[in-house]
Amino acid sequence: MPGFSTKAIHAGQAPEQITGAVTVPIFQSSTYAQHNLGEHVKYDYGRTINPTREAWETSIAALENGKHGFAFSSGMSAIAAATSMLRPGDHVVAGDDMYGGTYRYFSKVLAEFGVEFSFVDMRQIGPVATAIKKNTRLIYCETPTNPMMNLVDLAAVAEVAKKAGIMSVVDNTFMSPYLQNPLDFGIDVVLHSATKYLGGHSDVIGGVVVTSNDAYAEKIKFYQNAYGAIASPFDSWLMLRSVKTLALRMRAHSNNAQIIAERLHADARIAKVHYPGLPTHPQHELALRQMKDFGGMISIDTGSLEKAKAFTKALHHFTLGESLGGVESLVCHPVSMTHGSVPPEQRQKLGITDGLVRLSVGIEDVEDLLEDIERGLDAI
Ligand SMILES: Cc1ncc(COP(=O)(O)O)c(C=O)c1O
Repeated sequence: MPGFSTKAIHAGQAPEQITGAVTVPIFQSSTYAQHNLGEHVKYDYGRTINPTREAWETSIAALENGKHGFAFSSGMSAIAAATSMLRPGDHVVAGDDMYGGTYRYFSKVLAEFGVEFSFVDMRQIGPVATAIKKNTRLIYCETPTNPMMNLVDLAAVAEVAKKAGIMSVVDNTFMSPYLQNPLDFGIDVVLHSATKYLGGHSDVIGGVVVTSNDAYAEKIKFYQNAYGAIASPFDSWLMLRSVKTLALRMRAHSNNAQIIAERLHADARIAKVHYPGLPTHPQHELALRQMKDFGGMISIDTGSLEKAKAFTKALHHFTLGESLGGVESLVCHPVSMTHGSVPPEQRQKLGITDGLVRLSVGIEDVEDLLEDIERGLDAI
């Protein structure tokens, strides 16, 4: 099988047939000429199928080692499609630490339609297996979790799901397909907010779903067309352009983050550093087993809201902002920015304190980022 970057540069992207263009053209047309009435053509209508989106879907399926890829207009629409098989009365076992918007979709949208949820700490597989009921249809998680950087054992989750005859879905956004491939561990469906590392330049919103299961793929394709939240031709083209450098970017993100995490860990002014690449991370062994490297995301506990404010204010290269995974470093305050929809008691339980700060380490020169971190620490 070709290597990761070979797939990123070539899968779904053979030179275009008419002109030989080596990059996939942006097919902006909404409809296609049909030859004869009643005669089916592959390309009929742009919501259903588009050649640029098709190339992006082929590419992401190859990168996640899956058979079928689907591209959406956002990570949230990818999540909606991957969970669209749920019906009133169905039960889902979901991680208790996840992106706030996913929690909001589950608790405020799907729950209103009669889907039942158990949010469990998935760091151990025991509670996951115990939470399964007669009506459980799906296990859903992120790993590493957002923002606490806890890990979930993918092989163990896949085994529990298979034993129960239910579907497993993993949000792989924090890792990107370069660092972790959940399908390789037996997970049924993997998805991403492509807005993050896949896009990588903070200039496009998108989502993807990949599976090797033909039956799930058929349903996801049906919902993609029925709901219509598709990736546009231009956004698909941007994604194809971005993933060509995904391996290079992920190596740079991981190298910079490891150096910064070690610096923060060595400093007594920071109460806690959550980064799976640190040998002190309680699940470092699991990280070594299922991740190729440890990625660009670090969470730190500064101790209080005042200290979090002082730290973030002092930074020059880390921009205060939501989102993650772009080439530029970002800093975010989960309580006030990304996790407002998680109830305060739940945040408390998870360790999402007022002093928690999340860093998305970019690929700038690490010396400059370290200087910035010193400024932040001095301000504390
Ligand atoms: C882990 C994770 N999953 C899903 C999403 C939702 O993606 P989008 O904002 O592209 O809809 C986000 C957004 O921040 C995220 O961080």
